[in-house]
Amino acid sequence: MINLKNVNKYYQNGDSQFHVLKNINLSIDSGEFVSIMGPSGAGKTSLINVLGFIDRSFEGEYQFDGQSYDTIDDRTLSRLRNQSVGFVFQNFKLIQNNTILENVELPLLYGGMSKREAKPIVLEALEKVGLPNSATKIPNELSGGQQQRVAIARAIVHKPKFVLADEPTGALDSKTSSEIMAIFKKLNEDEGTTVLLVTHDKRVSEYGDRLITIFDGAITSDKQVEV
Ligand SMILES: Nc1ncnc2c1ncn2[C@@H]1O[C@H](COP(=O)(O)OP(=O)(O)OP(=O)(O)O)[C@@H](O)[C@H]1O
Ligand SMILES: [Mg+2]
Repeated sequence: MINLKNVNKYYQNGDSQFHVLKNINLSIDSGEFVSIMGPSGAGKTSLINVLGFIDRSFEGEYQFDGQSYDTIDDRTLSRLRNQSVGFVFQNFKLIQNNTILENVELPLLYGGMSKREAKPIVLEALEKVGLPNSATKIPNELSGGQQQRVAIARAIVHKPKFVLADEPTGALDSKTSSEIMAIFKKLNEDEGTTVLLVTHDKRVSEYGDRLITIFDGAITSDKQVEV
């Protein structure tokens, strides 16, 4: 599904260049659960932004489902992003003035669905993340763990090809982290959702079937995890 070939990325800082991604070669198949670890500043979020079609200013090749998208225009790119990827962030990024229902339905409305069509699909997604009775609440009425469940529902509601989670448990205590990770694991095992997860926490990384380590912008290790 995902195929990066010799990807290099540079940030321009005034007249100096910072080489943030160094010759990345990476293949990810549909159905994988991949953990990405590495020190702060190693380039994990930069890599996620390339993978999630947010950042296209890099050198090298990104093939997605066999198609190279070097030459794609911005509209097609944003459509690809909206349809193919679900994002989960450390700080949830929910819209505070909107209800849970309104937060989770957004990817469906972007896809052209009416609110009436979206509603049962949203309720099903909320059920999957263990929040069956929260649709009319607003984010501030929920705990951090519950807000992250909402964010996961929003990330999967439109059945994207893969989910990118950047430190999804970074703001949560260890018990809540385990609950959130159990949801990712279940989505991966039961629904075949492809998950790419960045974490600083070794225990969180162990939910994945494959562990990639990034150091100074380069992949230094990439291995299947023994079960
Ligand atoms: N827009 C930018 N412009 C210039 N430099 C940047 C930019 N974004 C990130 N960097 C630099 O690139 C490096 C990698 O950043 P990145 O956010 O990818 O790291 P990370 O591995 O996600 O770190 P963390 O674990 O702290 O989230 C850092 O040194 C950072 O300062
Ligand atoms: Mg980061």
